[in-house]
Amino acid sequence: MNETPLVVASNVVLEYHDGSRDVRALDGIDLAIQRGEFVGLVGPSGSGKSSLLFVLAGLRPPTSGRVAVMGEDLPAYADASAGMRRRRIGFLFQEPFLVPYLSVRENALTHAPGDAAEGRVEALAQAIGMTSMLDERPHRLSGGERQRASLLRALANNPDLILADEPTASLDQQTGHAVMDVLRTHTKDAGLLVVTHDRGMIEDANRVLFLRDGRLKHE
Ligand SMILES: Nc1ncnc2c1ncn2[C@@H]1O[C@H](COP(=O)(O)OP(=O)(O)OP(=O)(O)O)[C@@H](O)[C@H]1O
Ligand SMILES: [Mg+2]
Repeated sequence: MNETPLVVASNVVLEYHDGSRDVRALDGIDLAIQRGEFVGLVGPSGSGKSSLLFVLAGLRPPTSGRVAVMGEDLPAYADASAGMRRRRIGFLFQEPFLVPYLSVRENALTHAPGDAAEGRVEALAQAIGMTSMLDERPHRLSGGERQRASLLRALANNPDLILADEPTASLDQQTGHAVMDVLRTHTKDAGLLVVTHDRGMIEDANRVLFLRDGRLKHE
């Protein structure tokens, strides 16, 4: 039986028009991720990795081409897909965004109300050494702790698709592997796409994609 992929990108082009500079960040991307898949994404700085994650999540509509999440085309305006995104997609930004006046726990639960999410956040915090930080405000945390706090938020809703942009970049090897273990365990029935410069973190990926100048090569 052929399952509908979690996310499909078809001939996706993304251009930024930034004053005098025009950048084609993504140049004809075709990609499908199935449930249960763990996919690594590597490529030089500026090759379009973060841009690809934004487009797959519906945070940026492509200039041309299509993106479908769980069989449904994403709308042309990012705001129109906000509800779906919060339910289905866990997004880990390259630079963690946390609300400064909320605790780590409150940040994690912003879009994930209910006892189930609270229990999940507690269990995740335990697994990545963040239990004692749950009631702290973000400005009192280190960079790596903030990154792990945003992991709690990304997974609080039990998303179907997780898009993680360098989730271990500010972490030591041991903590980095703990974060990857959490992502992997959580992703058994979901899909996981991890951008990283550290090949050790995606050693057991089902496949690794290589991006260069906005074009994808399958390794
Ligand atoms: N908001 C933006 N406006 C204009 N150009 C942008 C914008 N965001 C990214 N770019 C350009 O698009 C290209 C791809 O950027 P992107 O952030 O996707 O790369 P990346 O592979 O994630 O790089 P890194 O490994 O450094 O995070 C780069 O040339 C970058 O300068
Ligand atoms: Mg990036």
